[in-house]
Amino acid sequence: LIGKKADKEGYKVYGVGGFVRDLLLGKDNLDLDLVVENDAISFAKSLKNYLNGKLKTFPQYQTARLTLPSGKHVDFATARIEYYAFPAASPEVEQSTIKQDLYRRDFTINTLAVKLNGSTFGKLLDFFDGAKDLKEGIIRVLYNLSFVEDPTRIFRGIRFEARFNFTIEDQTLLFMKNSLITGVLDKLPGEKLYEEFRNVFYEENFMDALMKMDEIGIFENIFPDLKLNENKIETISIIQDILQWYEQRSYNKSVSKEVLIFSCLFYDQPAPIVSSLSERLKIPTKIREVIFTTINHENYLTKKLEEDLKNSELVELLDGYPLETILFVLARKDNKSIKEKVYYFLENLKGVGISITGEDLKNLGIKPGPIYKKALEEVRKARLDGIVSTSEEELEYVLD
Ligand code: CTP
Repeated sequence: LIGKKADKEGYKVYGVGGFVRDLLLGKDNLDLDLVVENDAISFAKSLKNYLNGKLKTFPQYQTARLTLPSGKHVDFATARIEYYAFPAASPEVEQSTIKQDLYRRDFTINTLAVKLNGSTFGKLLDFFDGAKDLKEGIIRVLYNLSFVEDPTRIFRGIRFEARFNFTIEDQTLLFMKNSLITGVLDKLPGEKLYEEFRNVFYEENFMDALMKMDEIGIFENIFPDLKLNENKIETISIIQDILQWYEQRSYNKSVSKEVLIFSCLFYDQPAPIVSSLSERLKIPTKIREVIFTTINHENYLTKKLEEDLKNSELVELLDGYPLETILFVLARKDNKSIKEKVYYFLENLKGVGISITGEDLKNLGIKPGPIYKKALEEVRKARLDGIVSTSEEELEYVLD
């Protein structure tokens, strides 16, 4: 469809990047990345109605993004022909245009392109041996200043390695390490750094990625004491198990992985350091608050959980805390009784409600007011502690 439209309107269009990589790996990729010679925005505009999508254009970058009704994205980037000496560009010039575009990219596995035009539709362009590296599972950079030009690529390489179980090639690893030594991360704005950390955390196999970040010195580059130690590694790997357990239970509340993993990275640091790290990484305020709560309340929560608690007391203690804080305590404490209580709370108590409502209290002749809230709370406690179990018993309990 896209190819036909391109033929008709005289554009040269290629499928590139992650889209082609994932296609060859047989993996789903939500986004379709296109490179258009010689004007991506005007081609995207002409496709907009055709594909019934919503278009956003970024003229300063000569790019556009079309969001399709299915939620998939089509990204358009411009490859410009740089020689205008000939009225009709020769095939060599055309090739060099797409080749130059691909050479500017991060890794060889992302330099593969598929022609979407006319008779050569589907032809794979592989200028930098990307198919071989993809087959052999190698992450290889294209030129030695790549990480200096764009330090976010260090994180990308680590993510691809963990995601596909590939290996970062030695020379590439050296370029990564050298760029870190020259201080490339210092030039990266906090928001970008945060986004890259977050992208790593949301990889399924984030544990390997974090270990690699540590190995090449990213953590200590940001702050010396941030380097992983045995305790942190163990906590993070338990977090990974807990998240898997939580996802399998398919509870409807999602967990913020960044809260859990940042809490693991920060918990042994003094409060002012946690604050300054949060500032350096420009962690959004809401996330930051939950991280602080998690780190600061861990000891208190643990101590309370060691006590003998009725169900209602357990709920009263834990209900006020963010889910992430509770899961963090679960990960940190190797104490059977605490673990049992937390799991019991999550599996059996958290969602427990009651049958009666304010309407029932009204029918009993009780005058509406703050007493309603108190009464319903007391009924919930009684229900949690097994004192009442039916709506009749709940009403009786209120009357008592
Ligand atoms: N790219 C790059 N350098 C970057 C970011 C992106 O060279 N810092 C290039 C890569 O060729 C990549 C393409 O732009 O394939 C599209 O980027 P993006 O959609 O972010 O990457 P994907 O490779 O699709 O990765 P992911 O699957 O994580 O989205």
